[in-house]
Amino acid sequence: MRLLTNLARLRQWRAQQSRSVALVPTMGNLHQGHLSLVKKAQQHADVVVVSIFVNPMQFGAGEDLESYPRTLSDDKEALSAMGVNAVFTPQVSDIYPRGLAAQTQVTVPGISDILCGADRAGHFTGVATVVCKLFNMVQPDVAVFGEKDFQQLQIIRLMTQDLSLPVTVIGVPTAREKSGLALSSRNGYLNAEQRQQAAAIYQTLQDIAERLNATTDFKAIESKAEEALTGAGFKVDYVAIRNADDLQKPTPADKRWVVLIAARLGKTRLIDNLQVVNKHA
Ligand code: PAF
Repeated sequence: MRLLTNLARLRQWRAQQSRSVALVPTMGNLHQGHLSLVKKAQQHADVVVVSIFVNPMQFGAGEDLESYPRTLSDDKEALSAMGVNAVFTPQVSDIYPRGLAAQTQVTVPGISDILCGADRAGHFTGVATVVCKLFNMVQPDVAVFGEKDFQQLQIIRLMTQDLSLPVTVIGVPTAREKSGLALSSRNGYLNAEQRQQAAAIYQTLQDIAERLNATTDFKAIESKAEEALTGAGFKVDYVAIRNADDLQKPTPADKRWVVLIAARLGKTRLIDNLQVVNKHA
């Protein structure tokens, strides 16, 4: 496995590749969820490169940029064991050579300032900007992302389409613990009791999916679920049923919905989602 620790090394390596390349962008602290992205990438291209970069541009003031778990040597070991071809670990100066404040930004309008974007100003601009830059640096044929960050995935799809980037974006279903809890680097912040409690999020998503088979009273379903989660000890940021393509308000005519939840347990903010086929349409 090649270790590409800066942009110059990546470019040199990339110029030598004659077969198809898949990119799996990550911020490290890899778990089974990331490894399932790598497996998918290996099915779709000859050569797989994983980037590990804790992107300062997508963290807001007071968020966990400094304390975000960094486990580079374990990550490299796991990726090497999977037969990954290269790991790209750029420096901040490779990604933001003129500094963060001067950086040209990529913003996908309409979808970036709702849901998780509503109370994390600039977060999705940070994500879209770094992913756009990683696409330009790595020049992959395909790029693989988890459906767990569903809003992020849709933003990246739209950005890729809007900027005519020659990359096929592939989404991979969320990897879960037995309890249903979606795997996430931030689960490490949960204590044992919170970890058990956290499974209620997936339970709630499934309950909502079931209710959507019976009624399209979206507001009533959302309110009831929010009450249930609050009763179970969560501080709920949102429970939202949305059109699964553009994440706008749902209508009974949509083909597919996605139910999205963001809720806090103590200081840990958890997100999860479930796609639902509209059986009424
Ligand atoms: O999902 C993540 O880990 C990050 O948001 C990403 C896509 C690697 C961009 O920094």
